[in-house]
Amino acid sequence: MSTSKRKILVTSALPYANGPIHLGHLVEYIQTDIWSRFQKMRGHECHYICADDAHGTPIMLHAEKRGISAEQLIGEISTEHQRDFAAFAIDFDYYYSTHSEENRELAETIYSRLNDAGHITKRDVEQAYDPEKEMFLPDRFVKGECPKCHAPDQYGDSCEACGATYSPTELINPVSAVSGAIPITKSSEHHFFKLQNFADMLRNWIKQGHVQEEMANKLAEWLDGDLREWDISRDAPYFGFEIPGAPGKYFYVWLDAPIGYMASFKKLCEEKGLDFDEYWGKDAKTELYHFIGKDIVYFHALFWPAMLEGAGFRKPSGIFTHGFLTINGEKMSKSRGTFIKASTYLDHLNPEYLRYYFAAKLGNNVADLDLNFDDFTSRVNADLVGKVVNIASRCAGFIKKRFNGKLSAEIDQPDLLAELISAGDSIAESYENRDYNRAMREIMALADRANQYIDQKQPWVIAKEKDKDHELHQVCSMGINLFRILVTYLKPVLPVTVEKSEAFLNVAPLTWDDRSQPLTDHSINTFNPLMTRVDPIAIEAIINAEQKPLDAPSALGVKRGLKKVPEEKTTAPKNPSIANDDNSTITFDDFAKIDLRIARIAKAEHIEGADKLLRLTLDLGEMGSRNVFAGIKSAYQPEDLEGKLTVMVANLAPRKMRFGISEGMVLAAGPGGEDLWILEPHDGAQPGMKVK
Ligand code: MSP
Ligand code: ZN
Repeated sequence: MSTSKRKILVTSALPYANGPIHLGHLVEYIQTDIWSRFQKMRGHECHYICADDAHGTPIMLHAEKRGISAEQLIGEISTEHQRDFAAFAIDFDYYYSTHSEENRELAETIYSRLNDAGHITKRDVEQAYDPEKEMFLPDRFVKGECPKCHAPDQYGDSCEACGATYSPTELINPVSAVSGAIPITKSSEHHFFKLQNFADMLRNWIKQGHVQEEMANKLAEWLDGDLREWDISRDAPYFGFEIPGAPGKYFYVWLDAPIGYMASFKKLCEEKGLDFDEYWGKDAKTELYHFIGKDIVYFHALFWPAMLEGAGFRKPSGIFTHGFLTINGEKMSKSRGTFIKASTYLDHLNPEYLRYYFAAKLGNNVADLDLNFDDFTSRVNADLVGKVVNIASRCAGFIKKRFNGKLSAEIDQPDLLAELISAGDSIAESYENRDYNRAMREIMALADRANQYIDQKQPWVIAKEKDKDHELHQVCSMGINLFRILVTYLKPVLPVTVEKSEAFLNVAPLTWDDRSQPLTDHSINTFNPLMTRVDPIAIEAIINAEQKPLDAPSALGVKRGLKKVPEEKTTAPKNPSIANDDNSTITFDDFAKIDLRIARIAKAEHIEGADKLLRLTLDLGEMGSRNVFAGIKSAYQPEDLEGKLTVMVANLAPRKMRFGISEGMVLAAGPGGEDLWILEPHDGAQPGMKVK
């Protein structure tokens, strides 16, 4: 069955140490973890490593804003990330940080080798510079008026209103998102990696099956265009590694991020006595796979193999790309409460439900996948609780009570058992090919077979009949054996439930090959319910917990100098047709749908039991009045609000909240806490008036 022992190194992309793990991330970590656990169960040597991606401008500024050092911030976030991953049973063999000595050394080595081989060049680059903060500004940190359509408050790389792309120097009335100062243009020397030196190598490499076919086509398009040199340096101040021999110049975060895969593995080698070169040496015979999301293909399938080749290391055996998660058919969104943090989910639901649901949805393609909560509930309930766990619960009691916990000496229907055992080869193939949805379908079809058997034999009826003890024993023992095979197949997906099942079955940790030996004459332990049905209230609670009636600072009317730190977007050439980020952007048409109106705060009241919310009665003149819950209790006393004019979103669909129905939203801005201001229109504004 299992062929000879393979040696495999698997990675998931390194999450930014700049925010919490959310359900979108988990698609990837769960996908990789299932694969790694599967390989281990098959008896292969598989190492799954990851790390926090700790460098870059956003992290530096984020730490500064919180008044802590970058090291402190990434330390905190690393603890949170690892806590969330552990709760989802993501079983890394090593979890490190890109801000490590190993990574510094490896980054320096790779850079020096590329430099020695003539793959690095330097030239001056003009860039926006914040004279107040004394730093160069990444494109996303400059905002201003679009040079094409004149929409205000646009990022320095592209306009969200008209879609134009440009350089930050073209923005009209630009300001620094960091300090609010007017940026100047300043020149400095940058280091570039000559990606074009590797064009032929890359063209061949992507034809050799190292990437999925749909990705190969995309990459071929990129390779047909001109491959530009890649800017790999950033000027101080920057949180990262200084480039050797270039004081004040730092490696761009994306240069040392993938090297972090090597650094994390290096650390594991030290701990476990593994041979680093066996996995990364130029002629390594071992397997190396990177699981990534579709937004970072360019880095992994072009820059990374080129860097490795140029520095004399092996290239990956495969880059496995997955699509993006949508929730209830839409992009994850903070205002809809679907930007769900891992920790919020964990407060309410069993992590293995999500592992199973993602497995049931994931194929080996790049298509986006949707988490639909109704579908989620019915699949988990029907498949896991209804089909799998049910088998054990229908048989275990009789074994315990009537047969002293001991299974029969023979198997009732050897053919049926053999059928389940032999299906393991095909299921293994599905796992191997990352066709988890197919594997889950195959397993559930077997669970149906097992349930049919039990339905037919009706042990609960036999149990009441005289002299049928032998038959009852045979049937229930057969049921337990079928259950054991099913949980063996589900083990990569449901490690915790299967561990509990192993305790119940009183067996050593199940491996893939164990399944061919049935359990006969074997004592089992007391059965405790392994999994309960999904509680619909829990799902509602998750959405409510994430739904913020008012998210400060808001996108509209942000107070100067108090801007939310935007994510630094890659400066690498990116392909918008496959890029897809989590910061939901809206089109101009979407924006035009928002009906902003002047409202008079007729009444403002405290709400019993609410920490953040005030209840507002908003008068819209002829349009009537609205009941709105606003999260501004930290900043206002109700009496200060009554009689004031403010701006509200008047056409927001009414939303049920804990304290009643909210019929709109008021706009406010500020860093939060006491510093939060509702927008106050000036003279002449009348309730009901449209805001332009
Ligand atoms: N730090 C980089 C990766 C460096 S790897 C050398 C990064 N970090 S990330 O935190 O933004 O994303 C980590 C992984 O999660 C990426 O593979 C990304 O594609 C994936 N996902 C982030 N949001 C996602 C969804 N909504 N859906 C599916 N995967 C998503 O990129
Ligand atoms: Zn524009």
